[in-house]
Amino acid sequence: MTEKELIEKAKKARIKAYAPYSNFKVGAALLTKAGKVYMGANVENSTFGLTVCAERIAVFKAVNRGDKNFVKIVIVADKNPPVTPCGACRQVLAEFVRDLKIVCVNLQGKVERYSLKELLPEAFEKGSTDGTD
Ligand code: THU
Repeated sequence: MTEKELIEKAKKARIKAYAPYSNFKVGAALLTKAGKVYMGANVENSTFGLTVCAERIAVFKAVNRGDKNFVKIVIVADKNPPVTPCGACRQVLAEFVRDLKIVCVNLQGKVERYSLKELLPEAFEKGSTDGTD
């Protein structure tokens, strides 16, 4: 799967966004180590707070299929500079792969590359605890 193909998949996913409140459609394409791609688009809600981002939709679809070995995620939106994942999505991504590649793209074709470590250097990690102070 080339990056170009992954970008096309994220663009295709974006078409399915449900974003009547913000009018800001986002598409994501999440690549696994095995070469499978999970797509997602944001789904908004009239309560606003229940909105789910494109990135989390893609991650949850993958995890429910038993796939957690992510390599790269491409995110596409009509924004300049290209949109980067929100803090909540960064933390959700960090749950599974700390060194994920993040590729942020806009409709003008601008591409910006990051690593998850760079975007969320000190992710929360529960670690091991016996629950005592
Ligand atoms: N959104 C995403 O889907 N991904 C991002 O990385 C940023 C924000 C969505 C949430 C909401 O539906 C809309 O964009 C505006 O914030």
